[in-house]
Amino acid sequence: MRIDTPLTRLVGMDLPIVQAGMSWVSSCAELPLAVSEAGGLGVVAGGPMRLPDLDECLTRMRAGTDRPWAVNMPLYRKGVDEVMAHLIDQAPPVIIASQGGPKKYLGALHDVGTVWLHVVTSLTHAAKAVGAGVDGLVVVGAEAGGHPPEHGVTSLVLTRLIAREFPEIPVVASGGFTDGYSLAAALSLGAAGAQFGTRFIATPEANAHPAYKDRVLSAKVEDAVLVGRGLNPIRTLRNQFTERMLDLETAGASVDDRREVFASTVLRQSAKDGEVETGKVEAGQTAGLVTELHSAAEVVRRIAVEYGAVVNGLPRAAGGDSAPQCAQADGNVATAV
Ligand SMILES: Cc1cc2nc3c(=O)[nH]c(=O)nc-3n(C[C@H](O)[C@H](O)[C@H](O)COP(=O)(O)O)c2cc1C
Repeated sequence: MRIDTPLTRLVGMDLPIVQAGMSWVSSCAELPLAVSEAGGLGVVAGGPMRLPDLDECLTRMRAGTDRPWAVNMPLYRKGVDEVMAHLIDQAPPVIIASQGGPKKYLGALHDVGTVWLHVVTSLTHAAKAVGAGVDGLVVVGAEAGGHPPEHGVTSLVLTRLIAREFPEIPVVASGGFTDGYSLAAALSLGAAGAQFGTRFIATPEANAHPAYKDRVLSAKVEDAVLVGRGLNPIRTLRNQFTERMLDLETAGASVDDRREVFASTVLRQSAKDGEVETGKVEAGQTAGLVTELHSAAEVVRRIAVEYGAVVNGLPRAAGGDSAPQCAQADGNVATAV
């Protein structure tokens, strides 16, 4: 199956389905390989990886598939210059860069043929990234797991705002997308694809502890709370850690006191070691919609098939004047074939 959009044409993949870069969870080859082989874009989360591990993983990616794949790199990471020098040598098909400006490395990666998608959470950052010459944007709204924007603007509004402002740039909507319905919503907003994070945690290929996957599967949508305001907050599932953080916020505790608890545990402890009662179990609101573990290929297949059924079943507009000028005028319209 193929769903043709400006994103799939830019990257050279069959489906506008991007598996989100997720520290630890996709800091491996298994999940990204399975997604890319299924026609989506698999993303290695390079942020927490040591350089030799990252190099080995990228070698496995290259050996494992002829299809496009990506590396996610937060540009604030320690030793970023050295890491980016390696990436320039490795020339991944796509980079998804977050948390920092693209200018310093963009030219060198373009020279080796890498497509640069840039993660943004506001119109201002989107304008800067587009001005710097990135090839596409990943727009992250408030529903997202990991680090959603603190301003709280949802994907519904932020995607439309940025897609409307930059119709010539492929936009990938991220945060709150989980199935064919939400892919259809993303493309309706003028995006050229959607990025799915939390959905892919509940796959056998995800590099997360079984207790972490179980917690995602049992969560309700209200369980994915935002904690750490003013400290680069995270959306994470309710447990003893979030109760402590939320109690401190309610009590009006100082930033320093809140920082101490916030920094007392890291994602690795829950994702790798299974400490889901006391650790950061980062996941988005869609955890409440994810109820079954499926293979990554099956997740991709179901999203694509459901998308086809959803768009074919949408009510058609009849009567009235000629069609108003709409998002599809920008060429982002998708065709499922
Ligand atoms: C466990 C977890 C780890 C994440 N780690 C990263 C990361 O290393 N780099 C990054 O740019 N985004 C990271 N994110 C955010 C995702 O790339 C993506 O924007 C988000 O998961 C989308 O929202 P969704 O979970 O509702 O699909 C992470 C998200 C989760 C759930």
